[in-house]
Amino acid sequence: MTLDCPDGATPLDYDEMNGLLLTHITTRGELDRWEMENVHLAFQWADRIKHKNITDENFLSLLHKRMFGKVWKWAGTYRKSDKNIGVSWVEIPVYMKILCDDAKAWSEFATYPADEYAARFHHRLVYIHPFANGNGRHSRLVADLILEKMFDAQPFSWGKSTLTKQGEARTAYIKALKAADDHDYSLLLDFVRS
Ligand SMILES: Nc1ncnc2c1ncn2[C@@H]1O[C@H](COP(=O)(O)OP(=O)(O)OP(=O)(O)O)[C@@H](O)[C@H]1O
Ligand SMILES: [Mg+2]
Repeated sequence: MTLDCPDGATPLDYDEMNGLLLTHITTRGELDRWEMENVHLAFQWADRIKHKNITDENFLSLLHKRMFGKVWKWAGTYRKSDKNIGVSWVEIPVYMKILCDDAKAWSEFATYPADEYAARFHHRLVYIHPFANGNGRHSRLVADLILEKMFDAQPFSWGKSTLTKQGEARTAYIKALKAADDHDYSLLLDFVRS
């Protein structure tokens, strides 16, 4: 199967494609549907979470496994190849530890209001790009769980659009992420509540 990707997505390499658990899948459309079903189950599971440890490294991996573990063998484990986005794969554990430690400090010192905490964590996580695929969907759910479980706040509206498809909202979202890459979070903070 060959997979076409929208802008700002990560193509899968040969080993990663071999991790497809559902061998009957032959098209991108079928893959999207199966992933969507898996993600839907994870949303239901996440809804019932009572703890606040959303920015914990083990929880982040568990959540990715819950979202994609019925489709991909490598769900919940860090990637083992470099991508067009993200840090070099060998550095992922170090970057993840720094991010999760930073988040602990943000909580302890109440550094940021809810939206900024969630938006910054979302951007840092997707910038690291810890997994072979699903980083966008995973890190957006993480941001919403930070808001709901840690701050008792409303989840983001994310441009009120499916960001997985090419379109105006995705273009604005990627542009905002790129500005955040340059340490300007204003576009992203506007976008997530648009
Ligand atoms: N310049 C960038 N800086 C930071 N993050 C980026 C940049 N470009 C893209 N991204 C993020 O990478 C995601 C795509 O990565 P990946 O394909 O692993 O996720 P996905 O969940 O499969 O895709 P999607 O988010 O398109 O549904 C985008 O959704 C976006 O969040
Ligand atoms: Mg993808």
